[in-house]
Amino acid sequence: MGLGGSWDTSSLSKAQQKQADNVLETAINEGIRHFDHADIYTFGKAEQAFGSYLKRNSSLREKLFIQSKTGIVLKAGPLNSSIYNLSKPYVLRQVDQILKRLSIDYLDALLFHRPDPLTSMEALAETVQLLKESGKVKRFGVSNMSASQIQLLQSYLKEPLFSNQIQFSLAHAFLLDLEVWVNRQESPKEAGLSDLLAYSQKNKLSIQAYSPLAQGKYRKKEIREDQETFTLLAELAEKYNTSISGILLAWLWKIPADIQPIIGTTNLQRIQECTAATEINLSREEWYALWILANGKKLP
Ligand SMILES: NC(=O)c1ccc[n+]([C@@H]2O[C@H](COP(=O)([O-])OP(=O)(O)OC[C@H]3O[C@@H](n4cnc5c(N)ncnc54)[C@H](OP(=O)(O)O)[C@@H]3O)[C@@H](O)[C@H]2O)c1
Repeated sequence: MGLGGSWDTSSLSKAQQKQADNVLETAINEGIRHFDHADIYTFGKAEQAFGSYLKRNSSLREKLFIQSKTGIVLKAGPLNSSIYNLSKPYVLRQVDQILKRLSIDYLDALLFHRPDPLTSMEALAETVQLLKESGKVKRFGVSNMSASQIQLLQSYLKEPLFSNQIQFSLAHAFLLDLEVWVNRQESPKEAGLSDLLAYSQKNKLSIQAYSPLAQGKYRKKEIREDQETFTLLAELAEKYNTSISGILLAWLWKIPADIQPIIGTTNLQRIQECTAATEINLSREEWYALWILANGKKLP
């Protein structure tokens, strides 16, 4: 999402391509093989920049897992709002454009970016079938959907969905809150997320955690209310010889579910810090202390 520069219809500049080349080279050198795109990211320029890099490094294609998402139409509604479109003609057209921008013949996976109330899950399943038969997409996943929406879509599909991409970090851990605040006055109201963690595990969907670095919320200078969380993050970063980004990822990986953080940093050093964090194993006490402080309240 951070490649390609500005979110407008301007064309990709040489400097933006250079930035993308540097980010991709660092990520690949660090062992990252899974890349997440969406047709909307920087209005297609992120995919275009990736495609250009791949064209110049074509032997990489088979070694990478390349996924993209579709279903959001940016600024197509009033108030500059996006609208959603998962209709068959729209999705088929978008997939063709995604493949062209990425300079590839097939996607390892396509994710439906958000639910579209005007497309039934039954109709969406027909589109999935067409894309599968065409060979243009190998696997399918969803994003920002509830467990019952995923279940409904799955009921029409021949093959299992493989992943659910959802916002998940120490700063945004509603998925976990819903696991413990069961039947309480103060239960979180995000009913749509209910049991998503359990559902995903039962049905063997990986959880692609987006915004896993909390979009830089815990950067040093900007800490205001969350001082205690920041202090503990900083202490743990020192203890484990990593950065705050490393601890944020280690916190996600400690959860016994198939969690794949989708990092959005384009900072070369931060990419390295993130990949180095795979070895960190926080203690139970450290993990809970972070969660409680970030939530700002006692567990029930
Ligand atoms: N499915 C969806 O609806 C959805 C929504 C949003 C994102 N995504 C996907 O998830 C990916 C990650 O999302 P994200 O970018 O929101 O997640 P993120 O990795 O939590 O945040 C990355 C952003 O935070 C900044 N940042 C992180 N740590 C920082 C620090 N310590 N100090 C300063 N800045 C820091 C990064 O700046 P630097 O580049 O300078 O490090 C970058 O702008 C996206 O690229 C996209 O592929 C999906």
